[in-house]
Amino acid sequence: MSSPITIAAQAVEQITIAVAKGRTVKALAPLLRRAGVDPAPLTSDDRSLVRDSGKLRFLLLKPDDVPTYVEHGVADLGVCGRDVIREHEASVLVPLDLKIGRCSMVVAGMANRQTPLDVPRVATKYPRTAGEHFAKRGVQAEVIALAGSVELAPVVGLADLIVDLVETGETLRQNGLAILEEVAPVSTVLSANRAAFKLRREEIAPLLDALRVATAG
Ligand code: PRP
Repeated sequence: MSSPITIAAQAVEQITIAVAKGRTVKALAPLLRRAGVDPAPLTSDDRSLVRDSGKLRFLLLKPDDVPTYVEHGVADLGVCGRDVIREHEASVLVPLDLKIGRCSMVVAGMANRQTPLDVPRVATKYPRTAGEHFAKRGVQAEVIALAGSVELAPVVGLADLIVDLVETGETLRQNGLAILEEVAPVSTVLSANRAAFKLRREEIAPLLDALRVATAG
């Protein structure tokens, strides 16, 4: 097991980690603390998008952009939902499930309405994932890509169904929607740039080990 001291001693150069802003940062902070990394620079309430924490440098990004920064090698590691990695078909490694941000990607529809039997219109922030899901079931669906507040679409008649994340289920419930099917379980994962994972293995490994222990605790 790696202690904070081992990490500091072994890391020669800074490791850059792209982190999804918002709720991911909140959930990640206690995990970092358990792994011996001070999360204060990451959680501090300012508008700076680059945060230095000793041997680590955090980039604060929109969740959807995390795989792009990791794939292009601007960040060595990334922290975002598995849903985002899947949707972008990012060519990155996923060495660790951080076991935070657990939720579910589901198909949902109006609780009091039948799903049309012909071509359902499906609103989603995940057009590729949704398209693949329905294709696998042999259902032809019209996928409507939205940027957020997806639950509104069936309420006002833009779509018959949605594919979206559900955590507490409150947003579905308060908008009269019900889960019809689970597409996949989702959690926050650590991704890694393929080249950096090989070439910077000595620097990355102690952090990865410490995070692995922290996620188990
Ligand atoms: C996410 C998700 C759901 C909601 C689910 O949206 O897309 O809308 O959270 O959470 P719940 O089951 O606990 O209610 P987010 O808050 O990221 O906003 P968005 O819809 O604008 O993307």
